[in-house]
Amino acid sequence: MSDLLIDTTAGVTTITINRVAKKNSFTTAMYSGMADALDQAQAEEAVRVVVLQGHETIFSAGNDIADFLKSPPNSPDSPVFRFMRAISSFTKPIIAAVCGPAVGIGTTLLFHCDLVYAGDNAAFSMPFVNLGVCPEAGSSLLAPQRMGYGRAAEALLLGDPFTAEAALEMGLISRIVPPTEVNALAQRQAQKLVAKPMTSLLATKRLMKQGQASIVAERMAEEGVLFGRMLSQAAAREAFGAFMEKRQPDFSKL
Ligand code: COA
Repeated sequence: MSDLLIDTTAGVTTITINRVAKKNSFTTAMYSGMADALDQAQAEEAVRVVVLQGHETIFSAGNDIADFLKSPPNSPDSPVFRFMRAISSFTKPIIAAVCGPAVGIGTTLLFHCDLVYAGDNAAFSMPFVNLGVCPEAGSSLLAPQRMGYGRAAEALLLGDPFTAEAALEMGLISRIVPPTEVNALAQRQAQKLVAKPMTSLLATKRLMKQGQASIVAERMAEEGVLFGRMLSQAAAREAFGAFMEKRQPDFSKL
């Protein structure tokens, strides 16, 4: 079965992350697939809304660490950066349906979605420091803005996870429902959007985002260069090696 399921029905493209055995972690091929699906949804007039969803037990464990070590992103055209640019510059509404853990880019991609519905089992985290790297997908800018500096510092410096209730209170997500109802709610909201005038939706999203679109793009590019450089340095090598060997990392000398 494919790691990504992509379906377009009644004006909605639904991208389902479908790699549960590896906790829906993203491989390079999946980033390419998601970037292609977004590009196609952007170009096709018949598509009005995108829904991005995972499984009732897991949204995404972030980058597939083994795949990342094998093919680290080393240019702006790397699939992970293509995906980040595609989701952050997407002009039509994007709805995310999140249950279970949303780790790393599993959380940071949500800053680029318009409506985020979460199960009460959702757990968000951005453990970039714990992995010896730095924030990505514009999260070094967007997390302090959306969550407030104090909470963003706990999430980004300590790598502390936060609950669906905390995410709702911060305005990162729109509503919490039981995990079994999240995907259905996302589809119902998508159908409501499909019935609205597209020109008004596009204008409204553009107006809400245009104030900092170029600032976000610049920050993502800056994070990308730093992230790529840090990946080959000692702290990341220790953190990723520890994950692969199922042990705690030792940063005492770093
Ligand atoms: N990359 C590659 N494989 C991953 C992965 C990732 N990011 N996250 C989980 N997996 C794999 C595990 O290695 C394991 O594989 P195995 O069955 O072959 O041993 C399988 O998925 C199940 O993971 P496990 O950790 O046993 O599941 P869990 O339910 O106990 O915990 C998570 C789920 C998401 C909390 C935990 O897997 C986790 O923290 N993953 C790492 C997340 C991370 O650091 N991501 C950032 C990457 S930049």
